[in-house]
Amino acid sequence: MSGSLRAGSSNSAVLDAARLLAPSGVVVAPYTGLRALPAFDPDLDTPDGTALPPEVRRFRDQVGRADAVLISSPEYAHGIAGALKNALDWLVGSTEFSGRVVALLSTSTRAVHAPAQLIEVVTTMNAWLVPEACVTVPLHGRALDGPAIAAGPKPRGPGPHRDRRTRSSGRSDGRTRRRLNTTRMRPENSGTGPEPECRSRSQC
Ligand SMILES: Cc1cc2nc3c(=O)[nH]c(=O)nc-3n(C[C@H](O)[C@H](O)[C@H](O)COP(=O)(O)O)c2cc1C
Repeated sequence: MSGSLRAGSSNSAVLDAARLLAPSGVVVAPYTGLRALPAFDPDLDTPDGTALPPEVRRFRDQVGRADAVLISSPEYAHGIAGALKNALDWLVGSTEFSGRVVALLSTSTRAVHAPAQLIEVVTTMNAWLVPEACVTVPLHGRALDGPAIAAGPKPRGPGPHRDRRTRSSGRSDGRTRRRLNTTRMRPENSGTGPEPECRSRSQC
């Protein structure tokens, strides 16, 4: 899911690069319905689902069919893109998102508020956030498409989503659920210094 509706979106491009770099057997399917989702209305989100708008039904179905959700969002006015937050709000009352494996991508090391908010939102929604899969590909205004990003230099070092302290809790099924402690953010990736490096492009 890209949080940007812009035709030349860098967030959509980095998700397209993830699609191109996905290993054999992994299909990265873009969600293209963000613009069509109505504004979240709890009155339409009834337990029997009869009032649910069809676009929301289709969105939930696509999330429900996915093994994992990749999200990349621009930061607007120190916040998550509104269209993406609206989409996530539609998933709060659903059965499809809770427990879903989630990775957050980013195209800017300057944006620290939206990544922190995304972490807070998806962990509140009971996602299994995978810090090792959260990668920043610093594009900073460069208009690269998915193939160009995929063919470009290998990102190195952690992105802003990875610079959070994590706390873990054991799960009865043997897996470990990781939640990120957003109260311990270290926004050292912000500012005008040299860009930090992503650890591995393959982690996209
Ligand atoms: C209205 C507006 C507000 C923005 N606010 C911020 C901001 O607060 N912090 C930031 O780092 N970038 C901000 N930006 C820059 C965008 O996050 C950046 O251009 C991003 O790459 C856009 O994503 P896209 O290429 O996927 O459309 C803002 C851009 C716009 C248009």
